Amino acid sequence: MAETITITDDRTGQTVTVPIEGGVFPASAIRSLDPSLFVYDPAYMQTASCKSAITYLDGDNGILRYRGYPIEQLAEKSTFLEVAYLLLHGELPTAEQLSVWHHDVTHHTFIHENMRKRFVDGFHYDAHPMGMFVSALAALGTFYDGAKDIDDPESRHRQILRLIAKTPTIAAMCYRFSVGLPFNYPNNDLSFPANFLSMMWKVGDEYVLDPVLEKAMDVLFILHADHEQNCGTTAMRVVGSSNADPYSSAAAAASALYGPLHGGANEAVVRMLNDIGSIDNVPAFIQSVKDGQGRLMGFGHRVYKNYDPRATIIKQTAYDVFEVTGKNPLLDIALKLEEVALQDPYFIDRKLYPNVDFYSGLIYQAMGFPVEMFTVLFAIPRTAGWLAHWQELLSDNEQKISRPRQWYVGPETRDYVPMSSRV
Ligand code: ACO
Repeated sequence: MAETITITDDRTGQTVTVPIEGGVFPASAIRSLDPSLFVYDPAYMQTASCKSAITYLDGDNGILRYRGYPIEQLAEKSTFLEVAYLLLHGELPTAEQLSVWHHDVTHHTFIHENMRKRFVDGFHYDAHPMGMFVSALAALGTFYDGAKDIDDPESRHRQILRLIAKTPTIAAMCYRFSVGLPFNYPNNDLSFPANFLSMMWKVGDEYVLDPVLEKAMDVLFILHADHEQNCGTTAMRVVGSSNADPYSSAAAAASALYGPLHGGANEAVVRMLNDIGSIDNVPAFIQSVKDGQGRLMGFGHRVYKNYDPRATIIKQTAYDVFEVTGKNPLLDIALKLEEVALQDPYFIDRKLYPNVDFYSGLIYQAMGFPVEMFTVLFAIPRTAGWLAHWQELLSDNEQKISRPRQWYVGPETRDYVPMSSRV
């Protein structure tokens, strides 16, 4: 039997019955009862703002799939570039499609010299790399005539290639600038993660990369590539819905990611672990969180209320990386925090588990990245997810410019008070 929901407006006695599909019913049901009646839903906790065929997430059961493929299989068997293709095209590529995709992305990695010499050089010497990255994404669009041709599928594809290919170049450039090192040009003979790491770390002509670190970087890119309607992706869709170009929309998404409750969380985790300082201080720190003095960063998730499947993969990746780099001294504090929190009723009752950010910062730090780069590392692969959602948005006939309503709680109309009469 088809599932339905019946809503009655007690003011009028009017009733409407609508189908429930996939756990969702259309808000048009409310509109049909009374077009001036709205649902109050701060932070969109109970609102599905779009239909999407990209990422499936079941928070209660810890399931994450891109286009139907379990994240565990993709992390083990795929590469970030293949996953980016999958997210954008809906299917895994054939060998020929992958080869063309790889060639095309690889040949769009260079950025205009003015981006580096004039734009980036204008930043203050200690500018945060994520602030630079956000601005550089928006600025990048001004270099391409076709950026605004969002209705032309060919131009759209070209901008997508550019954004996916150039984000590692921009990220590395922001880092090199922030530490005063000369910029490394992309090396198109390398894999996507190896090219990024080479642009980050190469000094002189030599750069030798351990394959374990190359694979770890790729796995981290895969795990961060998409996560359905999170804050950043929603920003991408909201700004994209005004028909803004994809560079400006991606800059908005990256700005959302910058916040410590979203992509900035792994930076906050490492700062928190440093502040805790030693295993002995863990119980007191947990108590302070329970007393409401701050949060246990890297714990909790709006959707995952059981475990975050990405956290499980990342924990294993951390051990692989530490085999090469040596153990991050903060690991013991992190493990103790996890152990104590997972046994504490405060965290159990609120269904707070380690999320993807709890261990990713430790890996990044062991690989040599400064904490300021962590959110940038998240933004590189997430660009593929943002663009997949942007593309889906543009081809969805049910979408319009985003424009939620509000519940006005301010004063009623009143007359202007002259200065002399104000108290
Ligand atoms: N530490 C301590 N308490 C927490 C934490 C935490 N990390 N997260 C949630 N809580 C508590 C809240 O205080 C609240 O308690 P209460 O009911 O007694 O008031 C309860 O758990 C529910 O919290 P909400 O804020 O309502 O949960 P929400 O779903 O809105 O928040 C969020 C999700 C923002 C991720 C939150 O868990 C948090 O701030 N975590 C720390 C930051 C973090 O790790 N962010 C990364 C998220 S993953 C990502 O963006 C890639």
